[in-house]
Amino acid sequence: MVTPPSAPSPTERAAYLREVLRQHDHRYFVLDAPIISDAEYDRLMGELEELERRHPALATPDSPTQRVGGAASEKLLRVAHERPMLSLAKVHTREEFLEFDARVRKALGVERVRYTCEQKLDGLAISLTYEEGLLTRALTRGDGAIGEDVTANIRTIRSIPLRLSLPKGGEVPSKLEVRGEVILAHADFEALNRAQAARGEELFVNPRNAAAGALRQLDPRVTAERPLSAWFYDVGYSSLPFASHTARLAFLMRLGLRVLPSTCETEGAAEVEAKYLELLRLRDARGAQFDFDGMVVKVDSLDARERLGQVSRSPRWAVAWKFPAEIEETVVLGIDFQVGRTGKLTPVARLAPILVGGATVSNATLHNEDELRRKDVRIGDHVFIRRAGDVIPEVIKPILEKRKGDERRVEIPSQCPACGAMVVREPEEAEHRCTGLSCPAQLTAHLAHFAQRTAMDIEGLGDKLLEVLVSSGRVRAVDDLYGLTVDELAALPRTDKLSKGGKPISLGRANATAIHAALERSKQCTLRRFLFALGIRHVGESTARSLALAYPGLEPLLTASVEELQAIRDIGPEVASAIHSFFAQRANRDVVERLLSLGVTLAPEPKSTQGAFHEKSVVLTGELSRMTRDEAKAEIERRGGRVSGSVSRKTDLVVAGESAGSKLAKARELGVRVASEEEFLAMLAT
Ligand code: IVH
Repeated sequence: MVTPPSAPSPTERAAYLREVLRQHDHRYFVLDAPIISDAEYDRLMGELEELERRHPALATPDSPTQRVGGAASEKLLRVAHERPMLSLAKVHTREEFLEFDARVRKALGVERVRYTCEQKLDGLAISLTYEEGLLTRALTRGDGAIGEDVTANIRTIRSIPLRLSLPKGGEVPSKLEVRGEVILAHADFEALNRAQAARGEELFVNPRNAAAGALRQLDPRVTAERPLSAWFYDVGYSSLPFASHTARLAFLMRLGLRVLPSTCETEGAAEVEAKYLELLRLRDARGAQFDFDGMVVKVDSLDARERLGQVSRSPRWAVAWKFPAEIEETVVLGIDFQVGRTGKLTPVARLAPILVGGATVSNATLHNEDELRRKDVRIGDHVFIRRAGDVIPEVIKPILEKRKGDERRVEIPSQCPACGAMVVREPEEAEHRCTGLSCPAQLTAHLAHFAQRTAMDIEGLGDKLLEVLVSSGRVRAVDDLYGLTVDELAALPRTDKLSKGGKPISLGRANATAIHAALERSKQCTLRRFLFALGIRHVGESTARSLALAYPGLEPLLTASVEELQAIRDIGPEVASAIHSFFAQRANRDVVERLLSLGVTLAPEPKSTQGAFHEKSVVLTGELSRMTRDEAKAEIERRGGRVSGSVSRKTDLVVAGESAGSKLAKARELGVRVASEEEFLAMLAT
């Protein structure tokens, strides 16, 4: 930080304040490592504003007070790019990428190419010109040859410096044109859509559309209200020469620009492919702060780029390796109501099957009545749907422009579609519930929960088969499953196939034997999985684990008081009373006893050894490069720690990966210990 001049003139004081504020902006928005409080920042800003009010000549264009300025314009000016903004050739498969690599190697006459890999951001490409370090112009990409002048809007984005400077003096290029992407981070996008919904305005389909709308505003004051941010990944022109992309990015970073993390893969195509899979996992886990829809692979050497040149509008030295699309359009064929294990009715959109996020989707949940009304999805609607990785597919919104007028709204049924009992919505609750005591849909869902992989792990007992077992009356409770014989199972009708003549065919001996064996195997269970399998309200996998860690076996748990339960880590009053009342019911105790007498055995939970994470509350933020978030979480839990989503005073450790965001800032503010990815890996290793 600069030192304040002693007994300064207003000019000196203003120059000092501008520089300090610029450095704090850089620390906060670019490095994500603020060192002063918001209040202190506001005080410095207030002082500068006051000085500039008294001496208007001091308000230079790069002053942080001048971010939002100028009147709204009539339209955005079209301006030709000095150098065209090219587009990227795309590949979708490994084979296509290998063809690209082969072409590059052949053209360069080399065995192996040094590539850099970056996320392909899904925002709006921009070009910024800095002259003598000052931001003088910002253009959108437009058609690549002509863009729109969005300088006033770009100036409102606080991760973009108005003036470039090097930490230790150093030569700032007299002219520099940098290229990058304006985006909206996920959290900012969600906040924006919540605000849109609260105002009764239409939701944005994705962060890209929201960012585009904000950047192309005619009034910069509107742009300033949208939390846009920017990342840079390319140089259009520089008055200083460089040898490689990597060197150039490092220089941009030193100039104070926020540079997209880029990794260099020197071992060629196989390494690039590993990076692709890693980034795909990151996207699917929503592990990044922002959307990206692929990976850009670039030849690192600028000299090699020169030699490769371009074809039509794309360079030969780079390629965008796209991910499977996450958002697709399809039609709602119907809206069904599914009855869950607690009787909850969930509206589910039946969709014309569509490939999205790498899998075919034919259903998407609409959650509950409020969500159904809010999104106003109707039968016959064209809708956008989203599916990412293992995430449940969701309907984003109907495409209103495509409505013809014959789309049909649906009402929540007043009678359960499975058993005909009355459906109620409790006051204060979002859910509708079936009140039927012997509702087969509830029983089927309960059995499916019991049998699932993370519970009793009974392979082969799919929903359809369970429906048959329930509707035939053969299975009335979970313990009935263990009484099924191979003969009985073999005679059940198959639900996925009919005979050539259209008649039902039976499951057959081989399938029946496999299911029977799976049932037998599942009897060797652990206390943790068994507790989860029982389907006690509020007892998910993590609570089941806490219970199993606190109790060596089932016996003492059956009679534990609410107070005893509440003393267990992570178990609050509501959960404790749900557990207590579950075991207090005779019928539940009977089922448990029957299961045990049928041979179900429950291994205790291995206690994790004392280590760096034992009983620690850890928050993961930013992008980890060596493992996915889920993997990191599993490693921490295996060592007896807990992973939580938000930073508080109770947090013991924050693991900050690449481009960590507000959680890191919060950790610093609260004085919570922060570990880098390297340190985290070292902790795991000990
Ligand atoms: S490099 C010609 N790097 O993709 C190469 N572009 O299809 C210059 N994009 O208009 C661009 N992330 O909006 C580059 N890491 C990245 C990128 C990226 C997103 C966009 C950019 C460009 C489009 C080209």
